[in-house]
Amino acid sequence: MRVCVVGSGGREHALAHVLGRSCDVVVTPGNPGIPGSVAVPATEIEADLYVIGPEAPLVEGLADELRAAGRLVFGPGADGALLEGSKAWMKELLVAAGVPTAGHGSFTGLEPALRYLATMSDLFVIKTDGLAAGKGVLVTEDRAEAEEAVRAYLSGEAFGDAGRRVVIEEGLTGPELSVLAVCDGHRAVPLAPAQDFKRIGEGDVGPNTGGMGAYSPVPVAGDDVVDAVMDRAVLPTLEELQRRGIDYRGVLYAGLMLTPRGIKVLEYNVRFGDPEAQVVLPRLKSDLADLLAAAAAGSLEDDPVFGGDASVTVVCASEGYPAAPRIGDPIAGIEAANAVEGVMVFCAGVASAAEGGVGAISAGQDGQELVTAGGRVLNVTGQGPDLATARERAYAGVTHIDWPGRYVRFDIAAAAVEGASQRESA
Ligand code: AMP
Ligand code: GLY
Repeated sequence: MRVCVVGSGGREHALAHVLGRSCDVVVTPGNPGIPGSVAVPATEIEADLYVIGPEAPLVEGLADELRAAGRLVFGPGADGALLEGSKAWMKELLVAAGVPTAGHGSFTGLEPALRYLATMSDLFVIKTDGLAAGKGVLVTEDRAEAEEAVRAYLSGEAFGDAGRRVVIEEGLTGPELSVLAVCDGHRAVPLAPAQDFKRIGEGDVGPNTGGMGAYSPVPVAGDDVVDAVMDRAVLPTLEELQRRGIDYRGVLYAGLMLTPRGIKVLEYNVRFGDPEAQVVLPRLKSDLADLLAAAAAGSLEDDPVFGGDASVTVVCASEGYPAAPRIGDPIAGIEAANAVEGVMVFCAGVASAAEGGVGAISAGQDGQELVTAGGRVLNVTGQGPDLATARERAYAGVTHIDWPGRYVRFDIAAAAVEGASQRESA
């Protein structure tokens, strides 16, 4: 089978790598660190299956365009992608479907928004309605900061048009969990759960990012938790989508909080998580292309099979991320990291070095030298028989990766490994 993967980040590198176990893979536009990358639009590529990675082309209707041309596509149409494209629409749908979620209001006017905020206490959550690359969410205990954010969002100053409608939510607490379900329009099967680290700083402090690392499996999320997520969130959502005439074929990614009052959906994404894909997909034992092709054809049958192993991914980011990432620095050590047992480097914000050479730096797919070109530059995924080993391997890989100002969180999966060792010795 020939598969076309759309996108250019670490998630697409992981998709291409795992699909490559059984298929020819072409990635558009990809990046110089992803083998098979081509600068040709998906609509001009012949393939048996198209897998669309990022939310933006889904929201813009790329899946519809390809389907209209008779292609087999994994990824929802623009109608279903609105689950991620508009948080206000997503919340309305969740309420209609009876899915547990945080209490909220959605606003375009400043006065009603501030009045709603005045009724809240403790923890304030302000979200852009539209897409903001994972950065449009503020969670704060500081009322003045929340009010200021509402002003900056609604005026367009903070996130342009994406923020001209805001969703204000009650703040929830508890461990977070990402459950990615593969849907074929009427049936859904869960992938192994993962946990993501959204904040820039160790100990979960500082601004939200696209994700600074992830691990899978998640010790606090056994089969009972995944079953509850499917029964209370994913399946009712899929039914509600069907009721609205939406044939949802793609990933429904539930971002959840395990609160003292049960599971709550924080958000839906309409695609694989990044960096969740970089830990979940390498653990898959059954064939990924078969699974995605069956979902795309509306005929999911077999559940995906995962091994008993574990994986941890650590994002290496540019100095200044997420506010103002510095780019153009030469990247060293990708080959050395890949040579560590159980380690795979997935490239995201990388570009080819300009002419003139910059010393001993990493080679991309055609032996080109790579420089940083974005906030999240690459992911180092470690796999092993358990989380502790996977974590050790990921960080052993990270020690080889270098560029000026490289930023890494060193606490990815630390608490999960600690918890697992405490359970073993109890
Ligand atoms: P979202 O993009 O909606 O998933 O939000 C990004 C991050 O903000 C989540 O992963 C949580 O860490 C945090 N967050 C979102 N909604 C809430 C909420 N209602 N209460 C507490 N934290 C939240
Ligand atoms: N890791 C969060 C996301 O993919 O949205």
